Amino acid sequence: MVARRATSEDAVTVDVVHGDGPAAGDGHGDVRHGQIALVPVDLRLRARVLALGPHPRQRRYSGVPSDTLPPAERDPAQYPVAIVEDGNPVGFFALQGGPGAGRLIRGRQEMLLRAFFVDATRQGRGIAPRALLELPRYIRALDPAIRRVVLTVNVDNGPAIRTYLRSGFVDTGELFHGGIYGPQHVFALSVPRAPAA
Ligand SMILES: CC(C)(COP(=O)(O)OP(=O)(O)OC[C@H]1O[C@@H](n2cnc3c(N)ncnc32)[C@H](O)[C@@H]1OP(=O)(O)O)[C@@H](O)C(=O)NCCC(=O)NCCS
Repeated sequence: MVARRATSEDAVTVDVVHGDGPAAGDGHGDVRHGQIALVPVDLRLRARVLALGPHPRQRRYSGVPSDTLPPAERDPAQYPVAIVEDGNPVGFFALQGGPGAGRLIRGRQEMLLRAFFVDATRQGRGIAPRALLELPRYIRALDPAIRRVVLTVNVDNGPAIRTYLRSGFVDTGELFHGGIYGPQHVFALSVPRAPAA
């Protein structure tokens, strides 16, 4: 069980890459990167998260926080998370467990990742893969029972598909037809137990 709702004091720091570029394999050249952290959205971050959004043409893929954050806050089975760079929110997603997450989530050991985006002004800098790299550690801290994260991604959303596959998600081969914007792949990421100290 999750003992309490986390706050931004519980930020998990992910990664620091300066100078000669990002982690190997993300293909973003010599862009200078800040420190990325996954941080629970609480009152300190809320207004700045609500100001974020993807490009208008991408809204159909992730929604916008004004639509996705309030229901996540109201639902005790959802955990709204900010992607923070050098202390500034630059992206958002929500994790959801329980029956409300739908039929793709089977039991207590799985969570749905939803509403994931990087702000339009910050895309193309490798923020999403660096945030996703830290997801297992974040989820273990949230609920050590979780072993798998599942998401759906529209079949025409090439950049997101490549981002997830580069970040350890695998295509389950299943197609989800419940979205209003066409079929979606079902991807899953294993969450290994914490390495022994
Ligand atoms: C998909 C997304 C999360 C990637 O985040 P990111 O931090 O920009 O990731 P990266 O910098 O690693 O870029 C990933 C790819 O997107 C491309 N890209 C970046 N910004 C882009 C943009 N505005 N439009 C199209 N492609 C873009 C990059 O060139 C890269 O392409 P590649 O796979 O050919 O190398 C981000 O583009 C986004 O928020 N999209 C809108 C919301 C969305 O689709 N969410 C997924 C819901 S399932």
